[in-house]
Amino acid sequence: MPVKTAKGFSKLSKEAKIEWLANEYLKGDDKSVELLKSYWHADTETQKIHDEFIENTITNFYVPFGIAPNFLINDRIYCVPMAIEESSVVAAASKNASFWFDRGGFKSTVISTTKIGHVHFAWYGEFKILKKFIDSIKHKFYDETESITSNMRSRGGGIKDITVIDRSDLEPNYYQLQAKFETCDAMGANFINSLLEEFAKILERELQNSNLKEEYKKILIIMCILSNYTPECLVKCEVSCKLEDLSDDPKINNLEFAKKFKQAIHVANIEPYRATTHNKGIFNGIDAVVIATGNDFRAVEACGHTYASKDGQYKSLTNVDISNGYFRFWIELPISVGTVGGLTSLHPMVKFSHQLLGCPDAQGLMKIIAAVGLAQNFGAVKSLVTTGIQKGHMKMHLLNILNQLGANEEECKKIKLFFSDRVVSHRAVVDQFCKLRGIKNQITVNKK
Ligand code: MEV
Repeated sequence: MPVKTAKGFSKLSKEAKIEWLANEYLKGDDKSVELLKSYWHADTETQKIHDEFIENTITNFYVPFGIAPNFLINDRIYCVPMAIEESSVVAAASKNASFWFDRGGFKSTVISTTKIGHVHFAWYGEFKILKKFIDSIKHKFYDETESITSNMRSRGGGIKDITVIDRSDLEPNYYQLQAKFETCDAMGANFINSLLEEFAKILERELQNSNLKEEYKKILIIMCILSNYTPECLVKCEVSCKLEDLSDDPKINNLEFAKKFKQAIHVANIEPYRATTHNKGIFNGIDAVVIATGNDFRAVEACGHTYASKDGQYKSLTNVDISNGYFRFWIELPISVGTVGGLTSLHPMVKFSHQLLGCPDAQGLMKIIAAVGLAQNFGAVKSLVTTGIQKGHMKMHLLNILNQLGANEEECKKIKLFFSDRVVSHRAVVDQFCKLRGIKNQITVNKK
């Protein structure tokens, strides 16, 4: 592929970037250029907002934005926005929201909201000397960053704690200045990282100006960064009902179902292969809301997975208890999200999502997100231990298959009707489509 290096590419206009791309990568293909431009927003101001989120934007990339109504969380009904491409996720969230709506809904509690970050550094001396020194200058970290923290402090947040940690057991001379923060309704990444960088400067300067021995004045700041692992920014959400109300399907025996459900959760707790898929299903719901509300789903996922491993083995983020005739199912995980800052006041659809949820604060959003994760997991495990997952999944996927085949409206209608009481598989849909069109050579269809 004859591609020239693009110098100063980011400074080109969007049109020029596309032209470059077309010439260098697409053999001047007009159709690709048209495709890219067809995804531009009709309103240039709205498009400009999207263009400026990242560098080198050439167009937009659509992901469906769906809503899951009937989420009863702490006695309030929500219609939850979800941005996701996987066909069955919103359907499952909606179905299970309604299911638990009739059984008292979701009870969500925020346990803690502390965020954390570190100045990672190397220092060459005895830890007790370092600790004594840092304790003696600790007030400077607070005092000298007052201009950065004043806004956050006026909202009830700020720096909560600063300690020095000895990590020389992991690596010789490795220490951390660990700081904890309350960032209120902001996710707080910029706030935390700015403070940590200031702390590092203060630490370096104070060591230099100290009357410690010369060898103790030497410090190597490795890096200053928040941790996306926030085990003290924790939310719990629970559903419960009498065992006799557990199923809405008369063909399912409640007790047997409950026991099998419990076994499935147990498997996810003891077997990381299962736990990974189990938790992936939870994040199907969580990520979709995190994305729709303009938050960082990579951070939320990374954190959730680390939390799932906190006991030394990767486990389920949900748990179940069956006792005294009750079924109790809950999720507990750290979720660090914001309802101010970031994309929340910029992206029109993100603003809409917040509005749709009644403009919750960060804790409110944590509660909603946890409920969606729990609903998603309940739905997945329920299907897995009863009908199997493919029944519902393939039903939702049917439309994708029909679209791939290029079925028209009439054909879609007929094929959907045909599969209303049959198991959907790719092969079976292709067969049915060919039958309708009178196509003999199915390989041609498959290659479409
Ligand atoms: C598919 O995206 C998610 C599931 O595999 C989750 C699970 O197995 O629990 C259905």
